[in-house]
Amino acid sequence: METLKGIVLAGGTGSRLFPLTKVTNKHLLPVGREPMIYHPIHKMTEAGIAEILVVTGTEHMGDVVNLLGSGREFGCRFTYKVQDEAGGIAQALALAENFAAGSRLLVILGDNIFEDDLSEYTRAYMAKPGGAMIILKEVSDPERFGVAELSGDRVTGIEEKPTQPKSPYAVTGVYYYDNRVFEIIRTLKPSARGEYEITDVNNAYIQRSQLFAKFFHGWWTDAGTFESLDRASQLVQSREAGS
Ligand code: G1P
Repeated sequence: METLKGIVLAGGTGSRLFPLTKVTNKHLLPVGREPMIYHPIHKMTEAGIAEILVVTGTEHMGDVVNLLGSGREFGCRFTYKVQDEAGGIAQALALAENFAAGSRLLVILGDNIFEDDLSEYTRAYMAKPGGAMIILKEVSDPERFGVAELSGDRVTGIEEKPTQPKSPYAVTGVYYYDNRVFEIIRTLKPSARGEYEITDVNNAYIQRSQLFAKFFHGWWTDAGTFESLDRASQLVQSREAGS
């Protein structure tokens, strides 16, 4: 059976959470009873992924490795890669080419916290011959995210943080890619904010008619602002209290 490897992207400066992120990485802040980065990792191991690459900046890599270790505690194996400067999500993903070694990938942004088990989504993606798959969620503030335009159940375009969103469907930070993602990233140019955007990667798959989309059934939030970090903690705490 074809394997799926995991990538947790945990770089960036966390500027929207300053001064909480003055001396630490955003992904090490607490969400409920665990550091934020534990959440995407648990979602990967729950979906049967055993090989996980963690990408973060130079400044806090030591702390990230101290926290996570080899992966033995989590039932997986970690590989670590340094992103030298904060040049965007697609740039961080480009560092995973050797790690991927031809496998398909599940990429999760380290500040995405959500309820659904990814096993069902993973099976649906692996049943496809290739291409990419994203997970969407209807939100009340789509202008904060990548926003998908749909025609029936097909995604026809994605806009990054549009001032006038064409739909309420946010692109979550949970992405499945085949190995062609690395060719695509090599063709990208930096955006107006000087970053290599994951939205440009997804639009390249749309141009090839190879982007599939599914919706999350349960709750989903990012945790990169004070408001969303609070919301993530509340949602996780209510789940912890209920289990
Ligand atoms: C990133 C992506 C955006 C996506 C979001 C999900 O934005 O660029 O398309 O909707 O993650 O969390 P960021 O939060 O890094 O600005």
